Amino acid sequence: MTYQNILLEQPESGIYLLSVNRPKVLNALNAETVSEMESAIRTVSDDRNARVLLVTGAGEKAFVAGGDIAEMQGLHAMQAKTFSQQGLRVLRSLEQLAVPTIAVVNGYCLGGGNELAMACDWIMASDKAVFGQPEVNLGVTPGFGGTQRLTRRVGTAMAIEMITTGRNVKAEEAIAIGLVNHVYPAEQLMDEALKVARTIAAKGPVSVRLAKEAIQRGQHMDLDSAGLLESEVFALCFATTDQKEGMTAFVEKRKAAFKGE
Ligand code: CAA
Repeated sequence: MTYQNILLEQPESGIYLLSVNRPKVLNALNAETVSEMESAIRTVSDDRNARVLLVTGAGEKAFVAGGDIAEMQGLHAMQAKTFSQQGLRVLRSLEQLAVPTIAVVNGYCLGGGNELAMACDWIMASDKAVFGQPEVNLGVTPGFGGTQRLTRRVGTAMAIEMITTGRNVKAEEAIAIGLVNHVYPAEQLMDEALKVARTIAAKGPVSVRLAKEAIQRGQHMDLDSAGLLESEVFALCFATTDQKEGMTAFVEKRKAAFKGE
């Protein structure tokens, strides 16, 4: 499928790369872009050979500099609600993808861009990355989940500070507050992301999906229910050929050849 505002590629088997591709406006998210992202996420979701999804922004300067201000400028309240709900729905579908997702943040990661990055499982950033929720500068609040996901990532105090001051956070501080997992020199970032993607793609595919599901679903449960979920996904692994292959390969001192079934 061809898109106008995004690219969906498979640089290697099982590895998807979704790039927001509007570099002239720093990859700002208009409604059409969000809609194309929804379709791309469905493509990855429907592919049982998918192993991992990387999300990035085209060009040197930005991951995504936010929702498209030019498009939002003239909205009335109910249109703004529709746009917000579209963004929330699409980012939730990204968060709920069965395969691990990594935001590869190469520059400005602001507003809806930071919300997109936080809907990924974790963030790898370049040393030039800048994070923030600057919506209060525009007289609005975050609308694609920032008030909720930033709070869950960095805690209430830091989330309120960042959102009410609109202060930008550079890559090293983003690591210190737990927003970003790793920072790399800009020119190495995509290679490092592909290395991690390859590592994940080589593991037992069913176990990777089930482990993500247990973590994502379990964090909203009480500990006993989450423990039960874990023992159920653990038991389910023993119904797969991947478990037989993984453990047999260990005992036979060879590399496992997983089939994802
Ligand atoms: N929406 C629409 N266009 C944008 C944009 C955005 N979020 N961010 C940048 N652009 C456009 C600029 O208008 C400019 O276009 P022109 O060349 O046609 O003038 C182009 O991208 C390049 O931007 P700048 O000239 O501003 O580049 P800069 O290097 O001087 O500044 C920046 C970079 C600090 C990121 C600045 O562009 C900026 O502050 N952008 C807006 C960031 C922002 O407020 N984001 C939050 C948006 S609201 C939101 O996201 C709500 C939500 O939760 C969904």
